[in-house]
Amino acid sequence: MTDELSLLDALHSTPSRRYLSTDPIPDDVLWAILDAAVRGPSGGNRQGWGWVVVTDPAVKKRVADWYREGWEAAYGRRKEEILAAPPGTEGLSPSAFRAAENLALHLEDAPVWVFPVLRDAAEATNPRLGSSIYGAVQQLSLAARAYGIGTTLTTLYAGHEDEVRELLGLPADALTMALIPMGYPERGRWSQPKRLPVEQVVHFDRWGEHRTR
Ligand SMILES: Cc1cc2nc3c(=O)[nH]c(=O)nc-3n(C[C@H](O)[C@H](O)[C@H](O)COP(=O)(O)O)c2cc1C
Repeated sequence: MTDELSLLDALHSTPSRRYLSTDPIPDDVLWAILDAAVRGPSGGNRQGWGWVVVTDPAVKKRVADWYREGWEAAYGRRKEEILAAPPGTEGLSPSAFRAAENLALHLEDAPVWVFPVLRDAAEATNPRLGSSIYGAVQQLSLAARAYGIGTTLTTLYAGHEDEVRELLGLPADALTMALIPMGYPERGRWSQPKRLPVEQVVHFDRWGEHRTR
């Protein structure tokens, strides 16, 4: 069963979901989500991608340990400071920190992981390279949303990219562009993602020219 949601309602209610249950995702649902993801855009429709689905506990454990190393270096060691920050401070809010910490500690419990992988990306210098896959990645998150399945785009494992490439048996030119843990949320809500006001970040004709809505 999918949630009966308008497309725009879904766009406004797909935050990161970082408290996931271990309940399995049925195969037909996973296929439907992946089939929606690969409808996304890529330069010249080259589709130089592969979508590696991981459910093997041994693979997950190794990558989750690398992820936790990245988590600790980027956020975990600043826990006290982040949790004590006054409201409105830039960066992860205390509740987002707790959620992200929970995901780091329980990453391997998410029943399905997906690595979107891009070919010819390992040595690439094109700063717009990601545009050939991240649209499809967002489609994956939105399609998952339709089935009540939560996702988070994560990258904190990437300090061990070479080891991940080897572990997943990727071609030498390929780069993992993210790791998306997927699962049915067991806490939290499909709340509207908090963002800066649209009028503040939209510019008309020239940078700095704002308008009221
Ligand atoms: C490039 C990129 C890397 C990210 N890496 C991680 C990550 O490793 N772990 C994590 O929990 N969230 C990660 N996120 C999710 C962001 O923290 C999240 O999109 C942001 O806080 C907004 O959250 P919201 O959509 O729930 O409001 C990443 C997002 C992006 C776009």
